[in-house]
Amino acid sequence: MLKAENGEFLLDGKPFQVLSGAIHYFRTVPEYWEDRLRKLKALGLNTVETYVPWNVHEPKKGEFHFSDLADIETFIKKAQMLDLYVIVRPAPYICAEWEMGGLPAWLLAEQDMVLRSSHPGFLRHISDYFDVLLPKIEKYLSKHGGPIIAMQIENEYGAYGNDHAYLELFKEQYQKHGIDTFLFTSDGPDFIEQGSLPNVTTTLNFGSRVEEAFGKLEEYKPGSPKMVAEFWIGWFDHWGGEHHTRDPKDVANVFEDLLKINASLNVYMFHGGTNFGFMNGANHYDEYYPTITSYDYDSLLSESGEITQKYREVKNVLRRYVDVPEDVEHEIPTKTYGSVKLEESVSLFDTLQEISTVKENLVPLSMEDAGQAYGFILYSTEVNRKGELNLDTEPFRDRAYVYVNGKLEKTIYINDQEKTVQINFPDDVNTLEILVENMGRANYGQHLTDKKGLIRNIWLGEQYWFHWTMNLIELNVLPSDYAGGKEERFPKFFQGTFDANECHDTFVDTKGFRKGNVFINGFNLGRYWNEMGPQRTLYLPGPLLKEKGNTITVLELEGTTTEDITLVDRPNLG
Ligand code: GLA
Repeated sequence: MLKAENGEFLLDGKPFQVLSGAIHYFRTVPEYWEDRLRKLKALGLNTVETYVPWNVHEPKKGEFHFSDLADIETFIKKAQMLDLYVIVRPAPYICAEWEMGGLPAWLLAEQDMVLRSSHPGFLRHISDYFDVLLPKIEKYLSKHGGPIIAMQIENEYGAYGNDHAYLELFKEQYQKHGIDTFLFTSDGPDFIEQGSLPNVTTTLNFGSRVEEAFGKLEEYKPGSPKMVAEFWIGWFDHWGGEHHTRDPKDVANVFEDLLKINASLNVYMFHGGTNFGFMNGANHYDEYYPTITSYDYDSLLSESGEITQKYREVKNVLRRYVDVPEDVEHEIPTKTYGSVKLEESVSLFDTLQEISTVKENLVPLSMEDAGQAYGFILYSTEVNRKGELNLDTEPFRDRAYVYVNGKLEKTIYINDQEKTVQINFPDDVNTLEILVENMGRANYGQHLTDKKGLIRNIWLGEQYWFHWTMNLIELNVLPSDYAGGKEERFPKFFQGTFDANECHDTFVDTKGFRKGNVFINGFNLGRYWNEMGPQRTLYLPGPLLKEKGNTITVLELEGTTTEDITLVDRPNLG
């Protein structure tokens, strides 16, 4: 059992330094969990830490998912097999640059929902989820001989709210499920007061200035053990921003500052992984900043699991303080498969019957109110007025293509300064179609309640328009029929096949394409957005490939200069 006593950690009564690294099982294909964990162990760390994303495990209310990328138990067992301890952060709010900070979008369909508070509706849903999740975790607690030594309460709550009754609830929930393990909260050094609880160890999150940070902890909670629950050794990227890197020497120096004072730590991230599918989060301050697909994070292992220079520098520091194991020589090979011809294509508008479900409503419904979590909605209605009409784009989340009578008139983005656009309606009776893309819900701060689609009715030509058809396009299903399409307009699906022979890791170079998603054998690898960058390639892990007959599908939203896509052996993150 882990304990904090007189400013020190004790494990089973003996002084213990938590030397942990973060790996999110849901960001790495299960076939590679062991590889990443072995490399963590070989660095000299003794613990792996992971968040638990509620929206992955309960994608629809009452429907639970614990297989493949969501198989948390296998991940814990693999760590145990390697004699690693495990820290679990079941939150359920995890931030983590993950879609809505891990909260399921279906929560937003309840009109009075108050996230991250003791609002009864929110608590009821957490309690239902914990009834399923926590018994799975409880089995692996150290009291049963398992590897779990600690669990977190909420996540950086001090930077969000002041509802301590909500924080206390976690203790109750954990007690109800027999989770009598070491508990902690974690916050930035400036948010200790609002985020901490009496009788629960306070840990800190930071990337530098060790002395100053622990000074603040000592001021607020004298005699606390020193633990940095997130030692940020890199950073994440947004579409349209730069690719962040942090000097390995600088990281190694701060790492040494921590070791010198015998602090416990969790390297965030040891291995970042990928925001597959539509699971990237976003930040929203003055503007909306969606997170890119890669969660490479400039961490100690690259997105595809390679040992980096930073890993070596950190290991060199660590070996001066603890016995470190031999290096792991094993590197997973990458391969250039070359160019794949995308021989077939079909307009999304010709596939609606197969890939969408239809809803009719008086007013356009937001994605959440329509019962959809991710992807796109095509909203359509009839406009029986002729001429130039002003359209108020305030309710658009996040990016939208506006078509009149089948012709693209405008592309709208949530960050556009101008919130009124003029749209030409050439006929007495026109078809208006608005295809809206959800680019990822905010995972941090005041915009956490982040509904998508059209979040209220549109004001067009100084009036509201009623009676809408909505095609809900979640992209769990891809088109099977590419023949006989009538439309030429984008978005379009492009499809080609290739043999891999050896199924090695590769990177999809999206050059020549503008914006969209790439799927391999139906698995959504994530978004690309070349006009924005910085990311130019998408990581394609070898285990998603078959030796023969792989299908690559590209949903291109805007236009292409090529119908070939190339698979290369190096990433390009900008
Ligand atoms: C905070 C959060 C993490 C993550 C980092 C930034 O510390 O707790 O989930 O968002 O910031 O990467």
